[in-house]
Amino acid sequence: MKITIIGAGYVGLVTAAGLSDLGHSVQCLESNLEKLAHLQNGAVPFYEPGMQDLLAKVTQSGALQVAGFSKQAVADADIVMIAVGTPTGAKDGKVDLQYIHQAVDQIAPHLSGGAVVATKSTVPLGTTRQIAARIKKINPQLNFAVASNPEFLREGQALYDFRNPDRIVVGCETEWAREKMRALYAHFIKSGVPFVEVDLETSELVKYAANAFLAAKVAFINEIADLCESSGADIAGVARGIGLDSRIGPKFLNPGPGFGGSCFPKDILALSQMGEEYDSPLSIVEAVMESNAARKQNMARKIITACGGDVKGKKIAVLGLAFKAETDDMRDAPSLDILPVLHQAGAKLHCYDPKAMAAAAQLLPFAAMAKDSAAALQDADAAVILTEWAEFKDLDFAQMARAMRSPLLIDLRNLFSPEDLASKGLHYVSVGRPDMVPEPKKRISHG
Ligand code: UDX
Repeated sequence: MKITIIGAGYVGLVTAAGLSDLGHSVQCLESNLEKLAHLQNGAVPFYEPGMQDLLAKVTQSGALQVAGFSKQAVADADIVMIAVGTPTGAKDGKVDLQYIHQAVDQIAPHLSGGAVVATKSTVPLGTTRQIAARIKKINPQLNFAVASNPEFLREGQALYDFRNPDRIVVGCETEWAREKMRALYAHFIKSGVPFVEVDLETSELVKYAANAFLAAKVAFINEIADLCESSGADIAGVARGIGLDSRIGPKFLNPGPGFGGSCFPKDILALSQMGEEYDSPLSIVEAVMESNAARKQNMARKIITACGGDVKGKKIAVLGLAFKAETDDMRDAPSLDILPVLHQAGAKLHCYDPKAMAAAAQLLPFAAMAKDSAAALQDADAAVILTEWAEFKDLDFAQMARAMRSPLLIDLRNLFSPEDLASKGLHYVSVGRPDMVPEPKKRISHG
């Protein structure tokens, strides 16, 4: 089919590349000229494993074309997919739909009869219906239909998630348009992926409810980890013990510094606002927001406490800044809440992140950026792990213990076994598990 996607960000570009790799003919239109220049030079303007290679493959084959806005690309399309950002408005904290409106106004005059306009972006209840009204107003004679088609892509695993969806959700109220959406995803339907067909609002709510539920699961295990710390229980045992219940499942039970990213915080705020708007309060969603915000402050205090209650003048190595591993995305990263508190308390922060340092340097001007972990750790009074990058698992801890002024590692991602690190001479503080002090140096008996 001929697909035109508006927006070449984390969602639009992955979707465009993925669909073209399945055999569709896709045009992806990006209005940001700097991003567009990157893309037309074959470079992906963000880090997403596998994206660079896939973009090269599908652009060389011609299956995917990336361009600026093109009327022809809109007129050619069987389906026009809107995949622009819907950030939280800075002023009122509400979902900012300006980019959605811009995209709709741009495409409406050029759509061909029989086109489906599918919203891929995460939009509040009722937005897809408003998009239909907006198009009708601009182009009253046009025979078109709208659809809601939320994505469930995780950053860092977006290509995997595109190729291996647990389900595809389509909100649509026009049978011929539903047929087109089935044709779009025929590959997945044939391989048995559940294809959930619902109405527009139901589809929009699935996206928010899914993210809010996942965020609640993370906030829940984080609070249980706090109870483990104060009671001597072990969070790894609790997570395993509850995760084996098939109704709970083992995923998203990893305690950490609090959730961040471009989706969870924004989507749970939007969902809580919808609760108010429809006079159906979502107290659990609100509790998740409060719990997560408190956690980031608690984590800063945990670090200061682990450093003896005072970090004034101390060099603290910070390993990991991005909101999670395998991404360069700093949006709502816990580091943005935790590091200012340490800085205010007088700590000298030396940070390293494999992919996010360029973005982080703008956001954390008070922190020094180290070229690698070893440089950050040299003569440090403490080290803090905020992001679960795989390369941190290969650190040489005995060497780390020798290089640091004091061998204190505060691991907010539970990457290591406490016993193992203590045996290497580190004082190891983690989440929801007892602290481990280094074993006393073995006295070598002299006979
Ligand atoms: C999320 C949803 O998973 C995805 O389906 C949706 O499309 C977009 O939002 P993403 O924000 O990329 O994806 O990251 P995700 O892997 O879900 O992690 C979200 C946050 O929760 C991160 O800050 C992560 O560190 C944290 N997290 C996740 C935990 O702290 N513990 C976990 O066990 C899982």
